[in-house]
Amino acid sequence: MNIMKAENYVEMSVQASEYISKKIESKPNITLGLATGSTPKGLYAKLIKNYLRHEISFQQVSTINLDEHIGINQTDPNSYHFYMKTQLFDHIDIRETQTHLPYGNAQDLAKECDRYDLLINRLGGIDLQILGIGHNGHIGFNEPGSSVNSRTQVVRLTESTRKANAKFFKSFDDVPTHAITMGIASILESKEILLLASGRLKAKVIERLVKGKLTKRFRHQP
Ligand code: F6R
Repeated sequence: MNIMKAENYVEMSVQASEYISKKIESKPNITLGLATGSTPKGLYAKLIKNYLRHEISFQQVSTINLDEHIGINQTDPNSYHFYMKTQLFDHIDIRETQTHLPYGNAQDLAKECDRYDLLINRLGGIDLQILGIGHNGHIGFNEPGSSVNSRTQVVRLTESTRKANAKFFKSFDDVPTHAITMGIASILESKEILLLASGRLKAKVIERLVKGKLTKRFRHQP
């Protein structure tokens, strides 16, 4: 594990964008795992800048996102489909057919989970997974205690996660209660993971992640 420190949020975003840009340069058809939330917004803005300066192209890049809320439409400004379009995809030369997110409004959610896992396999796994982390340590929408062997699944969000996400919604009651998320096993099988965290509250979470004891549940079986 390498820890890269940055002075502030902007510097973290620059460092991350430079790292990812180099990866795209060395493997133009890279598969990137993407996250949403506040943390990667600065990173996406910097990647757009690098693209506009003709430093990188996303033409051959494939992306696969971690998660989506259940019960809201893809066109809803609070959907992660909408987030990815407005924060990144609409501003770069990526092919829409090469961008992937789970559908939280699928009729058959069990089938949607299977489809997503097959898709990850079809893409040959994830080369570089970008992650944020929740205040309670959640990754994607896998809440603490999720099995390390989990695959794409529908999860009930904890009250603390819903409260943290309420900043994006009109009111707490509007925050969806469930989400569909890539499983921990698929995330851990990524060839490389870049986890971004910024701010005092996240520092505590990172301290626990780095120094905390592994629990017995932590036995990943690839
Ligand atoms: C979103 C995701 C979540 C966020 C986490 C932190 O796709 O996977 O795990 O990374 O909730 O969110 P922010 O960055 O808003 O603090």
